Amino acid sequence: MVFKTRTWLATGVAIMASSAVAFGEMAPGDVKIMDMKVSGSLTGVPGDPAEGRKVFADRKLGNCLACHAVSDQSDQQFHGEVGPELDGVADRWSVDELRAIVVNSKAIFSEQTIMPGFYTLDVGINVRKDLVGKTILTAQQVEDVVAYLATLKE
Ligand code: HEC
Repeated sequence: MVFKTRTWLATGVAIMASSAVAFGEMAPGDVKIMDMKVSGSLTGVPGDPAEGRKVFADRKLGNCLACHAVSDQSDQQFHGEVGPELDGVADRWSVDELRAIVVNSKAIFSEQTIMPGFYTLDVGINVRKDLVGKTILTAQQVEDVVAYLATLKE
């Protein structure tokens, strides 16, 4: 019995340590992708499409424009064309599917996709040391980008 209690305590400590993400946010390792979906918000706070529009274009954040053209951002220069154009993307994918694509594109497309996973620690072995254990976007930035993508309907 003593042994069991100890194991339980150790598990409790491990869970607390891994959720050193902002309060109320899901840690990257706890996000489940099932049937190509991440069901429900990572933060419990609705995404802000206006913020998401900025994250999408910001080279230091999403940098999505580097690979994806979208007419809604025709005010920006240098749209990439490596990835599909995102006009009408919300007609092709549900919100939960869009969240899964942004969280970990490899889980949706393939290991070979060049699209980065923005909220996963599963990014391969050649990660710069200072980036180990970090995600490209925060959970709230993911929610904001997803809210923005959800506005792209035709
Ligand atoms: C380095 C290039 C690259 C970047 C950066 C990138 N993507 Fe992608 N994305 C792709 C490619 C390529 C695909 C197509 C899937 C494949 O073949 O790998 C794709 C597919 C998608 C799709 C599905 C599109 C459809 O019409 O089916 C969505 C949605 C998407 N990306 C959103 C984003 C968002 C949002 C960001 C920024 C947070 C982003 N991507 C950043 C390359 C990129």
